Amino acid sequence: MLNRRDTLKSLLLGTAALSTGIALPWRAFAQQDERFPNPLKIPPLLEGNVVDGLRHYDLRLQEGVSQFLPGLSTPTWGINGDYLGPTIRMRDGEKVRLNVHNALPEDTSMHWHGFLVPAVCDGGPAQVIHPGSTWSPEFTVLQGATTNWYHSHLMHATGPQVYKGLAGMIVVEDADSGRLEMPSDYGVDDIPVIVQDREFNADGSFRYVSEYAGMIQGIQGDTILVNGTLHPHFVATTRTVRLRILNASNARTYQFAFADERSFTQIASDGGLLEAPLPRTRMILAPAERAEILVDVSDGREALLVSHGLVSTYGEYPGAMSQLVRSMDTQSFEILAIRPQSALAPSPIVPAQLRQIARLDPSQAVSTRPVRLMMGHGMRSGEDNGPHSGMRTGFGGGFGGGNYSINGRHHNMAFVNERVPLGDIEIWELQNTSPLTHPVHIHNIHFQVLDRNGVPPPPEERGLKDTVRVLSGETVRVILRFEHYRDPETPYMYHCHMLEHEDRGMMAQFVVV
Ligand code: C2O
Ligand code: CU
Ligand code: CU
Repeated sequence: MLNRRDTLKSLLLGTAALSTGIALPWRAFAQQDERFPNPLKIPPLLEGNVVDGLRHYDLRLQEGVSQFLPGLSTPTWGINGDYLGPTIRMRDGEKVRLNVHNALPEDTSMHWHGFLVPAVCDGGPAQVIHPGSTWSPEFTVLQGATTNWYHSHLMHATGPQVYKGLAGMIVVEDADSGRLEMPSDYGVDDIPVIVQDREFNADGSFRYVSEYAGMIQGIQGDTILVNGTLHPHFVATTRTVRLRILNASNARTYQFAFADERSFTQIASDGGLLEAPLPRTRMILAPAERAEILVDVSDGREALLVSHGLVSTYGEYPGAMSQLVRSMDTQSFEILAIRPQSALAPSPIVPAQLRQIARLDPSQAVSTRPVRLMMGHGMRSGEDNGPHSGMRTGFGGGFGGGNYSINGRHHNMAFVNERVPLGDIEIWELQNTSPLTHPVHIHNIHFQVLDRNGVPPPPEERGLKDTVRVLSGETVRVILRFEHYRDPETPYMYHCHMLEHEDRGMMAQFVVV
């Protein structure tokens, strides 16, 4: 017979399961070790060497072999290793030089996502690194304490190259990050959490194929890797753990939470610290978005980071596309088990104020630029047997449902879409007229979100950003000002960060003049 407490407990669990609208099978097993047998891999820290006042970092892009699945090998690409790359640590104000050597059999490029750098150093599709050659951009780090990343950005091949492993994290520290009391011991209480979804073939290789579904949804996998670890756990030795979460998936959006619904504190977004710590229980991150969170594990219980599937609001229409759109990002996942050891070292108390962000004033805006995210509605179904089917999707065999553009124009390296005067305050109006959500990224800027369909953004979007979700039918206005590096010859990119959309043309370029 159930006593009152058991009844209450089952009622509570039942309500929790109902309110999220999905089954939560992990509750029953959350304490069992064998479900997350693998220690979370922590990418090695790359600090570089200072030579004549210039900090040098050596990055070698290479082929490798990784063991993700028991008993199987996966051919992968990595940077100074088999899969992904080291976490590069930089200091605000320092001059750096990155020696990027391409030991791969293909062209590639390497972009510093989140960085404010001269256009020739940006690593976009124009800065191709040929096999056997080394590209060595030099710049001054000037964006303050931030969690950034680096990844391949080759024209039409960003999706497959990032999928193979060409990505890593870059952490920038500044004077404030030393002053504020914050967990900051890398790999101990300051943890990179690079989340990616992958799909595997039976032989262990990654499955990246050009199909109609991938054209619409981007390439989404059913298996989660964190820092290249399957079913990972992390042993916490401190009362508070800081997670630097990077959604480095090609196309999947996550809704992070903890299985026991514990709240956590977001302290930073793409462009660095928020003004004040933000308590949350859910956090949506689209591809390329970052967030730093503090998780309190002082209760000694396992904190299981999960992702709850999103609920689609898209209508049901005949045809494959409506079905594909409706099923996007609806899957739930277990991501990472954080296991506190029995004795925990004390952690700093988060300050109530993290920093002040000077707001750009929309009445001072010199121009407003429309950025229309468009997608053709011509329908195709079945396999995309275009000229580049297989690992390199290219354009596939024509457009139809994959007819992605910005302002009706596919990305064209010979065409500069916008010329932006240095120092002007501008409003960019990101208008999504397509049926899908697109995370829009603008290079070389930390922008501020003004509003979504006229409504001021939620607190998590009031910090500085470089990537923002634009839902179907929405207009998101962002305000920005380019303050450095005039170069009328060399463009920066802005694009959808679902890599298969980017590769298919939802990208444009601007120069700062
Ligand atoms: Cu993270 Cu243009 O890219
Ligand atoms: Cu970028
Ligand atoms: Cu998109």
